[in-house]
Amino acid sequence: MKYRKLVENAKKPNGFWGKMMIKAMNKGHSSLTSWGLEHMNIERTATVLDIGCGGGKTVDRLCSIVANGKVYGIDYSELSVKSSEKLNSKNILCNKAKILQASVSDMPFDDNTFDNITAVETYYFWPDKENDVKEVFRVLKKGGTVMLLFEMLRTDDDPFKWEKVENMLNIKSVTPQEIRAVLESAGFQNINTYTKEGTTWLCATAQKPKDDEN
Ligand SMILES: C[S@@+](CC[C@H](N)C(=O)[O-])C[C@H]1O[C@@H](n2cnc3c(N)ncnc32)[C@H](O)[C@@H]1O
Repeated sequence: MKYRKLVENAKKPNGFWGKMMIKAMNKGHSSLTSWGLEHMNIERTATVLDIGCGGGKTVDRLCSIVANGKVYGIDYSELSVKSSEKLNSKNILCNKAKILQASVSDMPFDDNTFDNITAVETYYFWPDKENDVKEVFRVLKKGGTVMLLFEMLRTDDDPFKWEKVENMLNIKSVTPQEIRAVLESAGFQNINTYTKEGTTWLCATAQKPKDDEN
């Protein structure tokens, strides 16, 4: 019962169990996020967006990478926004970070705004994946990169590994092929997918074409 309540709050954290889930995610996604960020080149001056920022730990980490840049976090959960703001209060105070309540489907940013975009363990919940990834493409600068990071990789060896969580949350685990296809159809290039031995982690990185490559 407790496990179910906790897991259900991964989708849109709310109330007591949402707070518990946010705490668990900030801790539980730490190694995954470190590994994912190894596959991204983020400049010190970059403007970065973290989509589905949850408890805000990734925003905080990105703030320490972009010494002279700025980090935005968005999440459609009010509790996630408040938790991210609390964890990043110093970053916000010095104008290094800004957290907004918004959905990935309709982001309150101009075209070509971000150098880098990260999305950690959130893609599964996006309501219209093809169009949502196109929205990510829209707000990314030409030549900018996105990283989609997952811990629910589905493999032929163990295709039902995630069945319980999938049914509980009405979501689907992912394969590198599916993620590659959705990124390609949004217009991304230089798509790379990485898995880590001994884990079920998947990291996909991709670049928005530069002007002269269109
Ligand atoms: C499993 S949590 C991951 C949080 C954080 N990225 C981390 O790694 O700890 C998923 C987060 O994505 C957010 N989310 C889900 N669907 C979203 C959407 N359509 N737009 C914005 N945020 C969304 C949820 O509210 C939740 O905070």
